[in-house]
Amino acid sequence: MKSVSRLACVDRLKNQVVLVTGASSGIGRGIALAMADEGARVVVNHIRDRASAEEVVREIRSKGTDALVLEADVSREDHVEVMFASAVREFGTVDILVNNAGIQRDAPVHEMTFQEWQAVIDVNLTGAFLCSREAVREFRRRGLIPERSIAAGKIIFISSVHQVIPWSGHCNYAASKGGLMQFMKSLAQEVARDRIRVNGIAPGAIRTDINRESWEDPAALESLLKLIPLNRIGEPRDIGSVAVWLASDESDYVHGATIFVDGGMALYPGFSSGG
Ligand code: BGC
Repeated sequence: MKSVSRLACVDRLKNQVVLVTGASSGIGRGIALAMADEGARVVVNHIRDRASAEEVVREIRSKGTDALVLEADVSREDHVEVMFASAVREFGTVDILVNNAGIQRDAPVHEMTFQEWQAVIDVNLTGAFLCSREAVREFRRRGLIPERSIAAGKIIFISSVHQVIPWSGHCNYAASKGGLMQFMKSLAQEVARDRIRVNGIAPGAIRTDINRESWEDPAALESLLKLIPLNRIGEPRDIGSVAVWLASDESDYVHGATIFVDGGMALYPGFSSGG
């Protein structure tokens, strides 16, 4: 059996299968590529973005490992069930789930439509439930394979600094991420007995399409940087490297934790003087 001390830093995920939701762009893409660098085979989930998903698969194959595109709306029970069944049929099992898919539909509450509220809760929170349920079922069915990992499975939630930082104008989003935090911790408590490890990453401002308007324009970027003590916007690879570590046996004693990968954004930078 593999022991923590003899883990090498290359191919840390060799022979493992990772399913990343929302992997055709942004943080999900960054995680998919970082996992592939460690030898994992990757299921690249997307919705309505096949060309970009196929590009991610090509990039992964050029690294010498395998990948597969699976289209599914994570907020749809039937889609998620079919996606997991296809992943297991193609790759034999799933070892790691990354609940990454997420959306924003911003509006002040008095103008927010029911659809804007519901879409965000459906994708960000219900989607993570549906995917986690299938993953836990698969991990329990397969059981432990000691040559692959000390754990029977790993689930990583991509949450946000807004699981703790309130966000005016984004109540639906902040509510979904706060909910995700409690779901992650409760699930971690529940499945520890099955040797399934569950953790979260709370990204801050990472350069992706979701927040393009806050970094593309120099004035917007300047005001964003005031919220980031390390004074730079994050890149998808900043999240990918932490996700790899959380998925690997190097973090075997980390369970139910959230790692903030945010350049210090959650440190209340407004209090760096005064208070
Ligand atoms: C949001 C981004 C935002 C960042 C920091 C993320 O969760 O998706 O739009 O820039 O939090 O506020």
